[in-house]
Amino acid sequence: MNLHERTVIVIGGGSGIGWGAAQACLERGAHVVLAGRTASKLERALQTLQAGERGRYVSADITKEGDVSALFRGAERVDHVVVTAADLAYQPIVEFDVAAAQRALGSKLLGALLVAKHAAPRLPAHGSLTFTTGVASERPLPRGSLTATVNGGLHSFVRAAAIELAPIRVNALSPGWVDSELWDSIGVDKAAAFAQMAARLPVGRIATPADLGHAAVFLMESEMTTGAVLTVDGGHRFV
Ligand SMILES: NC(=O)c1ccc[n+]([C@@H]2O[C@H](COP(=O)([O-])OP(=O)(O)OC[C@H]3O[C@@H](n4cnc5c(N)ncnc54)[C@H](OP(=O)(O)O)[C@@H]3O)[C@@H](O)[C@H]2O)c1
Repeated sequence: MNLHERTVIVIGGGSGIGWGAAQACLERGAHVVLAGRTASKLERALQTLQAGERGRYVSADITKEGDVSALFRGAERVDHVVVTAADLAYQPIVEFDVAAAQRALGSKLLGALLVAKHAAPRLPAHGSLTFTTGVASERPLPRGSLTATVNGGLHSFVRAAAIELAPIRVNALSPGWVDSELWDSIGVDKAAAFAQMAARLPVGRIATPADLGHAAVFLMESEMTTGAVLTVDGGHRFV
């Protein structure tokens, strides 16, 4: 199976890994629909992708069932769905903020359920769903318990959904650190943190959105891959 003339909806496609997935799909001759909460970001993403007639966007908040339902009802066609949306909070357990926790759970876990619910009836038998977990599920950092929890939950969800939604395939990408806009909100010195991590990683560098886009394409195209978590972390979980 290849992606030529297929339609891929990328929720979170306005930046980072979603943008990288959209770019990889366009390079293979697919059509892309980018979704996210911020129209201006999605418009800019389509411009930088130079998507032309092959790209459009829909404003949608993955935590709102009405938005998710409208996204799939309004799609003329959909072959594959990639979800990278995340609204995460990094905080000490003893200072837990419930509203921030709900945003994280909503964007990564409830959002995954809503996407599966509304996408599955629209997907063809060759279709697939790809979610995004991450290294925090296996190698958590202090202040990252919430991220570890939602990522770990996705590991279980893709296995369960792969059984229930078959023959639609359901998988997840598990990145290590990726140089994306997500780091702008974490409150660390990104350049210093990346330099230190690159020196520790077996591959010697931090991943780019394109590295993850390449892996997302593999999950969409590989007809024998379902219920899998594909680790693309440069060896991060071992160091
Ligand atoms: N970057 C890393 O180092 C790293 C490492 C491990 C795992 N991951 C995982 O990879 C995924 C993607 O991260 P990224 O680095 O690509 O981050 P990113 O650049 O911040 O992209 C996330 C995208 O999701 C959208 N989004 C956020 N909340 C949303 C919502 N409620 N509904 C719809 N769209 C929403 C954002 O746009 P709007 O705000 O406009 O909606 C944004 O474009 C996340 O699940 C993250 O946990 C990333």
